Amino acid sequence: MTPEPTVNDAAFWQELYARGGDRWELGRPNPSLEAHLARHPLPVGLVAVPGCGRGHDARLLARHGHRVLGFDFVAETLRTARELAARDGVDVRFEERDVFELAAVYPTFFDGVWEYTCFCAIDPRRRAEYVDVLARILKPGGWLLAGFFPMGDQPGGPPFAVREAEVRTLLASRFELLEDYVPSTSPQGRQGREWMLLAHRQSDTPD
Ligand SMILES: C[S@@+](CC[C@H](N)C(=O)[O-])C[C@H]1O[C@@H](n2cnc3c(N)ncnc32)[C@H](O)[C@@H]1O
Repeated sequence: MTPEPTVNDAAFWQELYARGGDRWELGRPNPSLEAHLARHPLPVGLVAVPGCGRGHDARLLARHGHRVLGFDFVAETLRTARELAARDGVDVRFEERDVFELAAVYPTFFDGVWEYTCFCAIDPRRRAEYVDVLARILKPGGWLLAGFFPMGDQPGGPPFAVREAEVRTLLASRFELLEDYVPSTSPQGRQGREWMLLAHRQSDTPD
């Protein structure tokens, strides 16, 4: 018997998208990212967006002058992401890839990473590995801007809850935390459950 796909498999996510189970979909860039960029523009550079879905945030970052690579392992979703970018005349590259491959393919490559709802999508037992990937794909001193969601202990979300203490512990050895706040611009239903964090990759950690 073929085992059921898990969150670690593209087939799991492909099936969710196919049956309209993508309740995380905003159909637009995340307003908390929009507000952050308006208030505090980030140094323009090469930016990775892991688990980019349909690429709304990737297009927003590209409109702010960044060269953006969006990664996801669901091919159909990336097809839509490319169509939306073409529709909007925005230059973004999307690559079909498991985010856990990124450190091997793009070591110390990016100036910045935008993380939104990929952390909560991966198997919680792989979170340390994921944070390690984020550190390894960044150049020393590169920035990580993350909008963690859904914060708290309530089960659910897409699909695993996030706790602040755990994130702080996971980031501590690889990143220097610069700023964190609860945004006032979260989409409906997410108010008080998003947590924005800006950090730099420490320069003295292994690549
Ligand atoms: C909850 S959705 C969020 C999508 C997008 N960030 C958004 O806000 O609309 C999580 C996304 O991460 C992708 N994903 C999950 N695990 C992945 C992995 N290991 N490698 C690549 N993509 C992954 C899923 O296919 C899905 O598109």
